[in-house]
Amino acid sequence: MSARGGNEQGSRWRWMRGLRARLALSISVILVVALATAFIATYRGTGTEVRNQIDEDLRTDAIAFDQSLPVLDVRPRALAQKAETYLQDQTSFGATTRLYIVRIRGGGTVSNLPELNPAEGNPGVERDIAGPRRESDEARALRTAHIGFSTVRVNDEPLRLYFIAVERGGRPVAEIGVGEWAAAVGRAQSGVARTFVFAGTVTLVAAIVLGFAFASRLSRPLRRMASTAAEVTAGDLSQRISSTGPRDEVRVLADAFDRMLDRLENAFERQRGFVADASHELRTPLTVIRGQLEVLARQTAVTPADVRHVDEVVRTEVLRMERLVDDLLLLARADEGELVRPHSLDLAPFVTELFDALTLTADRAFELGELPQGRLLADEDRVAQVLRNLARNAVEHTGPGGLVRLTVRVLDRTQVEFAIEDDGPGIPPEQRDRVFDRFHRTDSARARRTGGAGLGLAIARAIVEAHGGTIAAGSSPEGGARVAFTLPGFRAASKRAGKEPARS
Ligand SMILES: Nc1ncnc2c1ncn2[C@@H]1O[C@H](COP(=O)(O)OP(=O)(O)O)[C@@H](O)[C@H]1O
Ligand SMILES: [Mg+2]
Repeated sequence: MSARGGNEQGSRWRWMRGLRARLALSISVILVVALATAFIATYRGTGTEVRNQIDEDLRTDAIAFDQSLPVLDVRPRALAQKAETYLQDQTSFGATTRLYIVRIRGGGTVSNLPELNPAEGNPGVERDIAGPRRESDEARALRTAHIGFSTVRVNDEPLRLYFIAVERGGRPVAEIGVGEWAAAVGRAQSGVARTFVFAGTVTLVAAIVLGFAFASRLSRPLRRMASTAAEVTAGDLSQRISSTGPRDEVRVLADAFDRMLDRLENAFERQRGFVADASHELRTPLTVIRGQLEVLARQTAVTPADVRHVDEVVRTEVLRMERLVDDLLLLARADEGELVRPHSLDLAPFVTELFDALTLTADRAFELGELPQGRLLADEDRVAQVLRNLARNAVEHTGPGGLVRLTVRVLDRTQVEFAIEDDGPGIPPEQRDRVFDRFHRTDSARARRTGGAGLGLAIARAIVEAHGGTIAAGSSPEGGARVAFTLPGFRAASKRAGKEPARS
């Protein structure tokens, strides 16, 4: 039970490992990394830009302030007066968060921060009755800051300061400072962050959805292929994917899959036909044997002649079956690819010997052409079997005295062609390919009781092809059949002054 639970758990999460999920996930990861990089760059850039802007403003302000102060009358009193006027103008433009201070040499300070401005009443300080006059943090920062830019933290808020020295006649007479709360930097940056979080979330969700949809589209033929493959059984090979998408890699795969199914279906079909034919061929002799035995069993007085007759018929049929089973075994071995064991043989004596034996089998006009001299790399027994099959066919399709001709010639130095010709009825052109199929017999041959089960040429082809050669049927000059096959692996005898026509 726990195993079953585990399986359910497994299948529930399997889609996670699917192509779609992986693609969507990859897109998301890439996107997150890209967004994060862009965010960091923008966040920092915004900070720097706003800070630069503030510095620029502070500098402009400080210079403007400097220019508003008198040039000739540099007594502290005059400076303080001018500074106060300037600050009043500044503040009257509207409430400003900017802090100003003028530290006059030998003349105190002027500032828009009231507690630093002793020239006017300072209610802020007066209200602070509890102890000695306490200075606020920003007041101290303004009073003590050095020339140039600086940033100080006041109540945990960054305050940006800029101080310049005011010189008159080459002598420093005062220092002007301008301060600005740098909160704008943080505000700008959090604005950037908010935009990024919003846009990023939207983009990410869109990317996941689109990525998943895109991957779905992409992998649909793959999933169809998988389900087709699952439906295919030895019994039903008719399923096809029939992909109609664009000609991409997936389509190529789907088409290849379909073609493979075509070939498989074909092979299974042939195999089924082969088994059916083989069974049928084995059944015929069995029926004959049973019939004979039944006849014998029904007879009350069995004579020795009856027994002899039955014995003869049964023997013939058993022989037929033996031949058939041998042929089937041979074809099975051919299918497994271990049919021939070639070795070098002397061609002319081999053919002569075989031919002499053939002439004894039937009353025909046997002819043997001139033989090339040399050695052939082939399986002697198997090649002899092919030649005997072809000769037997020629004999079967000719009458007494009919022509059966064997010729052997060299084709292109390393190939020899063997041909058996007769002057029988021949093989109709449309049958010339199919006669090599297993159990294939032409109608006229089928009508006769002679001949085999239609395996002779199939075996011949299997043996020839196992040697790397080819076999084909045609017509002889006499209008009969001509079946010829080629074998590679021939080497002409070099030294012997030959019977080869070219040299003699
Ligand atoms: N020499 C030939 N002349 C005419 N037909 C032939 C010849 N050889 C073969 N055939 C045809 O090819 C068929 C297949 O031959 P084969 O495979 O040897 O089977 P089988 O001899 O058992 O019929 C034969 O049934 C016959 O129709
Ligand atoms: Mg035959």
